Amino acid sequence: MFGKTKSKAWKQLENIYKHFQNTQMKDLFAADAKRGSKYCLQLENMLFDYSKNRINDEVMQALLALAEERQLKEKIVAMFSGKKINVTENRAVLHIALRNRQNTPIYVDGRDVMPQINEVLERIKDFSEDVRNGRFTGYTGKKLTNIVNIGIGGSDLGPFMATQALRHYWAKDIKCYFISNIDGTSCAEVLNNIDPETTLFIVASKTFTTIETLTNAKTCRKWLIDALGEHAVAKHFIALSTNKEEVEKFGINPDNMFAFWDFVGGRYSMWSAIGMIIAIAVGYKNFERMLEGANAMDRHFAEADLAQNIPVISALIGIWYNNFYNIHRYAVVPYDQYLQYLPAYLQQLDMESNGKAVTMDNKFVDYATGPVLFGGAGTNVQHSFFQLLHQGTEVVPVDFIIPAISHNEIGSHQPILIANVLAQGEALMQGKTEQEAITELQKSGKSKAEIERLKKYKTFSGNRPSNTIVLKKIDPYSLGMLVAMYEHKVYVQGVIWNINSFDQFGVELGKKLANNILPELEGRAFGAEHDSSTANLINHIKKIRK
Ligand code: F6P
Repeated sequence: MFGKTKSKAWKQLENIYKHFQNTQMKDLFAADAKRGSKYCLQLENMLFDYSKNRINDEVMQALLALAEERQLKEKIVAMFSGKKINVTENRAVLHIALRNRQNTPIYVDGRDVMPQINEVLERIKDFSEDVRNGRFTGYTGKKLTNIVNIGIGGSDLGPFMATQALRHYWAKDIKCYFISNIDGTSCAEVLNNIDPETTLFIVASKTFTTIETLTNAKTCRKWLIDALGEHAVAKHFIALSTNKEEVEKFGINPDNMFAFWDFVGGRYSMWSAIGMIIAIAVGYKNFERMLEGANAMDRHFAEADLAQNIPVISALIGIWYNNFYNIHRYAVVPYDQYLQYLPAYLQQLDMESNGKAVTMDNKFVDYATGPVLFGGAGTNVQHSFFQLLHQGTEVVPVDFIIPAISHNEIGSHQPILIANVLAQGEALMQGKTEQEAITELQKSGKSKAEIERLKKYKTFSGNRPSNTIVLKKIDPYSLGMLVAMYEHKVYVQGVIWNINSFDQFGVELGKKLANNILPELEGRAFGAEHDSSTANLINHIKKIRK
């Protein structure tokens, strides 16, 4: 069994932490002029600078020893070779197979999964091209230019994030919409703005049993039938799912269904048929480039030494903060408007994967697992939560992401953006001493009394960590690399914590209780047992809704 008290490497890290914890990064930089390039890795056009972290060689070696102790290399091989590493659901975890551009066989239960993956990719290619070229039209013969993805969680966040990230590549006449929330507003605000004759609905649901998606899909189906009649459904609805039976029951012709499989987790599924809207928006070639970028990261993850491995290093640094510094949060801040939804996507990826408290050996953990992740696009968030990052009592490690070249090089926008991201990392790391604050105030002509009054407010503790990820441009390939990097980082952390990153039982209890409350709200049932707060809230809302 793995528990922190049983682990030699863990104890070693605890010991290192005792003497290292107060080390200041700026002293480490002062002592080693090459630190910036030393703690830096590059994969093709992606540079991963991790030098602004509270680490040195001793820390990194001990973290790598922890990875060895946890048999990380073997666990990576297990994933890539189709072992059923999702032990609670007895499933293989093969999002890497979806972008296995080498097409090497990967076996699950003795069967190579690649032929079926390739077959569906071919179908995605044909269908997305047919829609884009107007060969597949709506019921009245008009080109389908409004593409509506109906899905939630992994069946929404990935396609949504990726289509927004690749907006520059959209076909000019195509508009993408996303309906996810059960809140009627989500449906209404889309349906009010589109024309049924030119709309394609993509019902995306791995299980095809998710109440939000099915309810939204039914509403959209009714809206379409009211406008064009029942026969129109076949030309305006497709399904992306693993569940053919439920798709048929819903009334979508299986010929209009694009399959994926239970070895693809919902939050790892944008590379599968779930990515249909991406392919329609940006074209299949670009979709394929995204797969190729992810594949490049997969090969790096599978082949590079642990010490040179970007997802591994990024994961281990996260472990260092989470389990030794007790910093249970981190922020992802892309400095690119196209990546504004990346943090929301990563929240599901990271928090649904590693928000677990039971080990693979069926024991409660005796250490912290998945951190809280939040973020938003820079520079916007500099004007919201960055105050806390700089001067608050919580230390929040940050991942900064910046493309060197923008798709929209207008005047000096991009240099200003780049200057800002680099300045934030520098400021967080260096801080500002009281003496520096005093000197600055003196220079600005403040009186002695004023300086005395302001000097503490103007001080920054510094020593606040960040990684900086530089990409050449946000294109399909680099997006693929970036997302795959985070996927693998999450897996590495799951391996270190000895948890299953691929189930999500935690989302079920709330769903079940909602099913109990619904009939009460609708007046179809009474008197179910609730705590007094919930009972009071039900009654209060019922009164208002009368
Ligand atoms: O939130 C739980 C969850 O099962 C996610 O893991 C998944 O991405 C989402 O619901 C949607 O599920 P489905 O694709 O089956 O509709």
